[in-house]
Amino acid sequence: MSVPTDLVVSGPHPLRGRLRVPGDKGMSHRALLFAAMADGRSRVVGLAGGDDVSRTRGALGQLGVSSTVAESAVTVAGHGVAAFTEPTGILDCGNSGTTIRLLSGLLAGRPFLSVLTGDDSLVRRPMARVVAPLRAMGARVDGRADGTRPPLTVRGGGLIGTTHSLTVASAQVKTALLLAGLQADGTTEISEPAPSRDHTERMLAALGAPIIRVDERAVRVTAGAPQPFDFDVPGDPSSAAFWVVAATITPGSELVVEDVALNPARIAFVDVLVRMGAAIEMVTTGERLGEPVGELRVRSAPLHGTTVEGATIPWVIDEIPALAVAAAFADGVTEFRDAGELRVKESDRIATVGELVTRLGVGVESGADHLVVRGGTPAPAALDSHGDHRVAMAGAVAANALEGEMVVRGWRAVASSYPEFTEDLATLTGGAAR
Ligand code: S3P
Repeated sequence: MSVPTDLVVSGPHPLRGRLRVPGDKGMSHRALLFAAMADGRSRVVGLAGGDDVSRTRGALGQLGVSSTVAESAVTVAGHGVAAFTEPTGILDCGNSGTTIRLLSGLLAGRPFLSVLTGDDSLVRRPMARVVAPLRAMGARVDGRADGTRPPLTVRGGGLIGTTHSLTVASAQVKTALLLAGLQADGTTEISEPAPSRDHTERMLAALGAPIIRVDERAVRVTAGAPQPFDFDVPGDPSSAAFWVVAATITPGSELVVEDVALNPARIAFVDVLVRMGAAIEMVTTGERLGEPVGELRVRSAPLHGTTVEGATIPWVIDEIPALAVAAAFADGVTEFRDAGELRVKESDRIATVGELVTRLGVGVESGADHLVVRGGTPAPAALDSHGDHRVAMAGAVAANALEGEMVVRGWRAVASSYPEFTEDLATLTGGAAR
């Protein structure tokens, strides 16, 4: 799907109807990796179509794991990790932090050399958080800037089960160590300062891998592998969040997002918005691979400010760009605190989201780990994604709610997670964007 360089949106346009967002990105990466680790054929329907997940699939192909696409299904021919072969080229993870970190953990168990890198944004992102604990398990991992930045080299094999006490709540780091732990001798245990998203635990347990939750902040794994599987990936709540905010702040909207993942670690943005006054109903309709699935029903509503902090932050970390736009349209002050991780996402989101909201004419105050938005009466302005997909979509949501024509520069960034966004916006609004 071709994505325009810049997006022009004219608003306000209420959003109406029903929508299914692309498959969850985190579960899509995991489905591909787990299918490659299993011995047998797995079939995944509704995989996220963006560039990030294609990078994971491409890297697995370079490791000798073949997959084929027919209509909306990807079939992966897994033969277990022992069948992976040393890649002859560099594994280019593009913009995808999930790809580079999860693959580092998976490849730490393989007795060959892998080299992993990515785009201008990815090579600036911190990797010591995976490099150090993988070294502690016995893998030889290195990288630029004293092993802290990509490109990374991984010469794996001979791993020893290790107890890790993480200093940052990160599902990518936790997952990397679990994938290494599945290939290690003995038990690997990981504890986190606060619970991060738990897709890996839920999906691996549903697929029969030897993983045990110790308590809400700790998980344990021994050597083993998932079984092959069929999986229909539910919609991505982080993508849904843009529509939920758009419908909330654009008067006259009434929207249903169907078949979306409702994992509590991903859907906390709904609680935040409801606290701000939003009219959102969440209905669970089923479960797939241990993941609750259902729909979100939204009507527009006036918002007021709130505070989001502490253990809630890891559960809304990807939704803060959308929530900051909600905050700009809310009466009063909204504070995002304890959110230093925003500085090391696809862009420095305290800076880029802060700039986006400032351009809308709303008061902003920021610091090392906080962003404070003084909501009120945002006004149209030219916005810039700074190459970050979620900043781009947050900009489009603001533009759709405001009177007049606005441009979001650097719109192409949405290709990493949601290339269909422009078409979906046009469908829901009856043609607001080009
Ligand atoms: C992800 C975990 C989060 C999130 C990212 C996807 C995952 O990153 O921001 O978009 O799929 O595990 P961290 O692990 O860095 O918090």
